[in-house]
Amino acid sequence: MLKVTIDGQTIEVPEGTTILQAARMLGPDVAPPTMCYYSKLETSGGYCRTCIVKVTKGSEKDPRPMPKPVASCRTIVMDGMEVQNQTSPELLEARKGVVEFLLANHPLDCPICDQAGECHLQDLSFEHGIESTRYEFERRTFKKIDLGPYIQLHMTRCILCYRCVKVADQLTPQRYHGVLNRGDVAEISTYIEKAIDNDFSGNVIDVCPVGALTDKTFRFKSRVWFTKPSDAHRNCDKCSGKVTLWYKGDDVLRVTGRKNEFGEVDEFICNTCRFEKKRTSDWQIEGPSKVDRKSVISANHYSGNTVIPDFAFRVAENNKKIDDSPKGSNLLAMKN
Ligand code: SF4
Ligand code: FES
Repeated sequence: MLKVTIDGQTIEVPEGTTILQAARMLGPDVAPPTMCYYSKLETSGGYCRTCIVKVTKGSEKDPRPMPKPVASCRTIVMDGMEVQNQTSPELLEARKGVVEFLLANHPLDCPICDQAGECHLQDLSFEHGIESTRYEFERRTFKKIDLGPYIQLHMTRCILCYRCVKVADQLTPQRYHGVLNRGDVAEISTYIEKAIDNDFSGNVIDVCPVGALTDKTFRFKSRVWFTKPSDAHRNCDKCSGKVTLWYKGDDVLRVTGRKNEFGEVDEFICNTCRFEKKRTSDWQIEGPSKVDRKSVISANHYSGNTVIPDFAFRVAENNKKIDDSPKGSNLLAMKN
């Protein structure tokens, strides 16, 4: 076993563990954010650089610090390694830069985007982004593309994380889409806009960290924070049949895989469960889903979820510096 210390917390991990995996073992508050790594998809990670960390001690044998921030999802732990994530102001500044790059071409269409409220880029921008853009060039824009009857691609929102490509490669018998071209002309495409038509294609919607791939059966039906998630299962011969049903009143507006505290699905589900079983009578209901991400979905819904996330204090501290806002002072008083 190898010893690694992340933000002052030490843990022993098996050989071959990445810094990100070790940080996740310590919990979601220590783990760096990820936009392209997805633990259930092989070879994912290494594209977005949001998971960067500062290695202040390489190992017991070679204690020199690493000269630059490293992608924690791709860097293997060495015995005696010491790492900083939340505790390094320079690292947080560097992550701000990464977020700024991710947003360079991203439209500000959260008010009409179905992913708003559960978008990892929205959360990331809120926690690490700057208030305004310094980008002066015209943004890339694309036409919307229909990927078959159930999936809509808004390439304009895509951050090229490759997760949907890995899903198609690893879960479906044949892949029809991929990243075409490179650099600032790179785009997700189906080459001839061919429909992605197979039993597990809907999982691209769940893995997409932004609103680039959305569920056509749910589009524009409701803001996600007006829906109530409930765990349910059914006997399915294609997948585990374990899902989350998103209710508005008595109607099931959409069906998704169940997500964990890192925003990743526990198990991939088939298209029959996702798109064709939208009645409560199709399911055995287990009860309300646990929503423990720092998410607007949990706002006012769950009495147990009363912990104020750290970034709220950081925002309050900033606000207080700017205008001595009473709202910020109230929040800070709660902290003390
Ligand atoms: S469409 Fe979504 S999942 Fe696919 S590469 Fe773009 S952001 Fe990633
Ligand atoms: S999550 Fe590590 S590079 Fe994207």
